[in-house]
Amino acid sequence: MTTRYVAAIDQGTSSTRCIIYDRGGVMVSMAQRKHTQYFPEPGWVEHDALEIWHLVERLIPAALASGGIDPSELVGLGITNQRETTVIWDRTTGIPLHRAIVWQDTRTSEMVESLREQGIGADVERRTGAPLSNYFSAPRLRWLLDACPGSRAAAAAGTVLFGTMDSWLVWNLTGGVHGGLHITDPTNASRTMLMNIETAQWDPRLLEIFDIPAQILPEIRPSLSKVGATVTPVPGIPISAMIGDQQAALVGQTALRAGESKYTLGTGGFLLFNTGTTLVRSRHGLITTVAFQMDGQPIRYALEGTNPTAGALVEWIRENLGIIDTAAEIETLATTVDDNGGCYIVPAFSGLHAPHWVSASRGLIVGLTSYITRGHLARAALETNAFAARSMVAALNDDLAAAGVDMSLTELVVDGGMTANNTLMQTIADICDVTVKRPQMAEAVALGAAYAAGFSVGLWTDEQQLRRNWHTGAVWKPGIDPADRSRRVANWSMAVDLASQWDP
Ligand code: G3P
Repeated sequence: MTTRYVAAIDQGTSSTRCIIYDRGGVMVSMAQRKHTQYFPEPGWVEHDALEIWHLVERLIPAALASGGIDPSELVGLGITNQRETTVIWDRTTGIPLHRAIVWQDTRTSEMVESLREQGIGADVERRTGAPLSNYFSAPRLRWLLDACPGSRAAAAAGTVLFGTMDSWLVWNLTGGVHGGLHITDPTNASRTMLMNIETAQWDPRLLEIFDIPAQILPEIRPSLSKVGATVTPVPGIPISAMIGDQQAALVGQTALRAGESKYTLGTGGFLLFNTGTTLVRSRHGLITTVAFQMDGQPIRYALEGTNPTAGALVEWIRENLGIIDTAAEIETLATTVDDNGGCYIVPAFSGLHAPHWVSASRGLIVGLTSYITRGHLARAALETNAFAARSMVAALNDDLAAAGVDMSLTELVVDGGMTANNTLMQTIADICDVTVKRPQMAEAVALGAAYAAGFSVGLWTDEQQLRRNWHTGAVWKPGIDPADRSRRVANWSMAVDLASQWDP
């Protein structure tokens, strides 16, 4: 009998990977490449969508070759991606009209503020489940249509298409200019600020608010569905799942039922709590989002807390301050000191998210004295993730209680590259006052896309088969004096308040 494998393409903020898994959820081969980050102006972040597509064209054959796998052995392919990143392209040439505007980009802050001044914030939030913010795709899409000459007319004529990275990749994989599929799924669509969170359809009022022609939008298909086969670079692989990367991590952690959750630390930090078929709204600025949709089944929802600058801060320290040579060294440097020395970093590179939601705020470092060393800065950079997680957990538990649902978050199940940092994991347990658990397989995003793709084609038929692959890797318990915790949390809150008022 032929061996059956499933593949995932994980198109993330800093790199793209193609990973192939066997039926036991074991990774059998991987190919990965970074892409260029463009920072053309303060607060602007762009990617070259064609560069990313050309990487995918090379990564799929590379992963197959390194695992010695024949394409016919792949029963499914799942696409997962950085969410909210916005690209428009010409369907007749396949060329993007502009570099993709990345989810971290803040160029649309003023546009968002002027929309807010028109008093439409509450309506947008009711329709989308998310606070009006430049984090989502709609303001970027409007910016692109305004900035690229002729694009509005071409969009109305159906020759210019919009997509998040899932749509862009699937369109190319399924034939591009020769009839590529223009589709997305509800997890990605829910991050555009154009989809109605209750109906999971594009919302005409939101299109009107953001001045978006409906013809430019992809069709929304269930996250787990057999959408069609690849045409290139390797023909005939069945694409069977599309899912945003944070939702994919939820699946990869097998947090498939209401009451289960995960906290992923990658470029940003993202806490998703599965609320099942119940749509829970937040009083604290958390995002009500789609967790996933299986073909023919109702939408599953999640409440999400976001910290846009987690690993991105470590990367900035490495690249721009040069005090570490590799991201992993941040832990070594942080452990040269006993504490943060009174120094706090608020890395609001992409504005402040929940509960403040200030698009235009900038990051800050406070508490500097001549005592502060590189070690204290490293420690403060790690601790910022623990404080952010604490605010998310508090907001989430308050929202769940207010909604009258019998659920709460009592432990943090973590994944992502940064969770290899044991000092950070202990700090999160200490500051959040919850147990932190890391699975042996801490790269949950690609695994979740593979699970979704395999489930969709019947490689797995029962969620217990996936749960059996989840094994505890390490556990951290809170271990600090409550008074010390309160003092540090109070200092952090003051720092965030300062950042939220910073208006250069
Ligand atoms: O919302 C942005 C998020 O999807 C980015 O994820 O894994 O690239 O940090 P990541």
